[in-house]
Amino acid sequence: MDYDDRSVRRFIFATVLWGAVGMLVGVILALQLAWWPANLNTPYLTFGRLRPLHTNAVIFAFTGNGVFAGIYYSMQRLLKTRMWSDKLSAFHFWGWQAIIVSAAITLPLGLTEAKEYAELIWPIDIAIAVVWLAFAANFFGTIAIRKVKHLYVAIWFYMSMVITITVLHVVNNLALPVSLTRSYPIYSGLTDALVQWWYGHNAVGFLLTTPILGLLYYFLPRAAERPVYSYRLSIVHFWGLVFLYIWAGPHHLLYSALPDWAQTLGMVFSLMLLAPSWGGMLNGLLTLRGAWDRLRTDPILKFFVVAITFYGMSTFEGPLMAIRSVNALSHYTDWTIGHVHSGALGWVGMTMFGMLYWLAPRVYYRPLHSTSLATAHFWLATVGIVLYVVAMWAAGVTQGLMWRAVDANGLLQYPNFLDTVRVLNPFYWIRLGGGLMYFTGVLMLGWNLFRTSQSSATTTAIQAA
Ligand code: HEM
Ligand code: HEM
Repeated sequence: MDYDDRSVRRFIFATVLWGAVGMLVGVILALQLAWWPANLNTPYLTFGRLRPLHTNAVIFAFTGNGVFAGIYYSMQRLLKTRMWSDKLSAFHFWGWQAIIVSAAITLPLGLTEAKEYAELIWPIDIAIAVVWLAFAANFFGTIAIRKVKHLYVAIWFYMSMVITITVLHVVNNLALPVSLTRSYPIYSGLTDALVQWWYGHNAVGFLLTTPILGLLYYFLPRAAERPVYSYRLSIVHFWGLVFLYIWAGPHHLLYSALPDWAQTLGMVFSLMLLAPSWGGMLNGLLTLRGAWDRLRTDPILKFFVVAITFYGMSTFEGPLMAIRSVNALSHYTDWTIGHVHSGALGWVGMTMFGMLYWLAPRVYYRPLHSTSLATAHFWLATVGIVLYVVAMWAAGVTQGLMWRAVDANGLLQYPNFLDTVRVLNPFYWIRLGGGLMYFTGVLMLGWNLFRTSQSSATTTAIQAA
């Protein structure tokens, strides 16, 4: 079969490039929080402008391109057909990169719509809609011309992303432009907040969770050379997750002006999410039955196991944080940042790395340059995540407890806000160390893939897989 691997190679290149850029910005942010002079006294590089650059780069550029690479590769194999349109594939790739470049220019200039994860100004929003719809047309076109009847569960997970992100992006970004760079959202007040967090939560759900699960349902069995433990459980996982996820957004607005019943709804649906999430996690771990011994030598399986474990951890922690009384402690603190990065670095990042190491020999038609370098990357990243996340948990709980501490007279024990900030400083340095390790791992990945692509030893055996 003549599959389009060129698009896969392009997306892989973009994943590593933007991953390195986005995480370098993350490291700079971590440094700024530990040592404020790193803001460099210039508006373009202040924390407030670089932060959305980091989140946009790691979510839409690193994770986005990685998801596209995995989808283009696996979809063609699963459906036994080439992508429907090479032109649309190329348009998708170049259009997406152009959007990323415009984000990298506008955000440091301070041009923003000020909605988290939807900061980009309206002309870029329109470009996103156009490119996304081109991808959607190619995606469904490929399904339409497929040579096999059955749609494997991974495709369902991808499909939920394609459909939901379209709806979320369009609804949350409806705005009235007043100039080329400025617009007003059509919603106001509480409605604006609710729409924004319905978007924000499901952007996490349908960009950082469902497509990654789809990738894992394809790449884990391939890497482990074992079928999925329970296909039935994977279907339950899919329907349970997509049905519950979409209602949980209000857990971002606990103790706000949002009606009480809506907050409770968000909390209850978040708690229910534990069931499909852990079902999925167990399905992943059990898929490895009989292959655990290979973990000693295979860095790809190592990456996947840590990814699944962090999926379990962050989907246990999320429902916990959605309980109102727990959120009263965690909200506004670094605990949230710890939760975010156990999902982002542990779950999303490690899945991406495992997938890229597995894909490289198959799309460059050459053996991986160095397995030991990949193993070193694995350990560096794992220790880096632990340092990052543990430091943020400790910082978050300390922060939350100090804010609420009162003395015998009922007066605040730490009325000086700066005291609560100062105490966090050592944790911020530890986070910087962990972030630096994780970032170094991405550079090692880039080097390994580059050397693989340049190797003179070619292999055709792997190509057929
Ligand atoms: C069952 C699954 C999950 C539930 C119920 C959940 C729940 C929560 C809760 C309650 C918050 C704090 C909201 C606040 O206090 O403002 C939060 C924040 C967040 N979570 Fe999760 N989480 C889950 C899984 C994940 C995963 C797997 C990821 C990442 C891959 C993730 C990414 C985030 C992000 C980015 C935020 C920060 C949003 C913001 O305030 O900017 N979550 N989550
Ligand atoms: C070297 C790796 C990384 C470092 C050092 C890093 C560092 C940071 C820092 C310092 C912040 C700001 C925290 C604050 O405002 O207090 C942040 C926010 C954030 N990062 Fe990262 N990051 C890294 C990788 C990633 C990756 C790979 C992802 C996603 C795939 C990610 C997603 C996010 C998100 C969603 C936020 C906003 C969280 C919120 O609003 O609650 N980061 N990161």
